Amino acid sequence: MIERKMERLQKILAAAGYGSRRKVEELIKSGKVTVNGVIAELGSKADIEKDKIRVCGKEPVIKKKIYYLLNKPAGFICTLKDPFNRPKVVDLLPKEPRVFPVGRLDIDTTGALLLTNDGELTNLLIHPRYLVKKTYWVRVDGFLDAKALGILQKGVVLEDGLTGPAQVKIIKADQKTTLISITIHEGRKRQIKRMIKAVGHKVLSLHRAKFGPLEVKELQPGNYRELSQTELKLLKECAKLC
Ligand code: URA
Repeated sequence: MIERKMERLQKILAAAGYGSRRKVEELIKSGKVTVNGVIAELGSKADIEKDKIRVCGKEPVIKKKIYYLLNKPAGFICTLKDPFNRPKVVDLLPKEPRVFPVGRLDIDTTGALLLTNDGELTNLLIHPRYLVKKTYWVRVDGFLDAKALGILQKGVVLEDGLTGPAQVKIIKADQKTTLISITIHEGRKRQIKRMIKAVGHKVLSLHRAKFGPLEVKELQPGNYRELSQTELKLLKECAKLC
């Protein structure tokens, strides 16, 4: 069965630039909005891809929301402008519709990066109140002992304050390096590298394996895909509840 993406008309028209929610409500109440030829009411819902929405008989320009999961390769930056002209993650994706990264990964970090033109969801996902879980695989130099692991788990004092509790697991270790998985809720600048430095080690490589419910395990570095409806639903739930 094809899934219908029903959204409230107020939200659709506000996103299409018809003004504030209140203005849009007035527009709907005035009877100038139709869905498939039927005058819409306040609270009516529509699917922007399948229903014919008209405002004063004209088709509104509705930006389709798009969500990409990219397996970010090393060597690409997340900012949109760069004085050094380094490769940008947005260059790996279609030019239209224009999408923006949700948060940032360092140039040498690889892995899960969400890019979208949905500003509302972006704000929720990066808002400190909602704190989506992120899991990183970190290769550190030397052997990370139980004391260091304990500190990382409980919280590390950084120059911008104590970090929240983290889930930390050792994946593999030898005399020279330790590979750990670390799950955090916060998204401070260079947080993992600073946490590892605070316990006396250095990050040799950093990969974000999971961003909320999104995993890049089937994507080669540099490749991307659109989110499934299920992933999007989980992500939206996560943005409110995580
Ligand atoms: N923590 C870091 O130190 N770097 C990243 O890119 C992401 C998290």
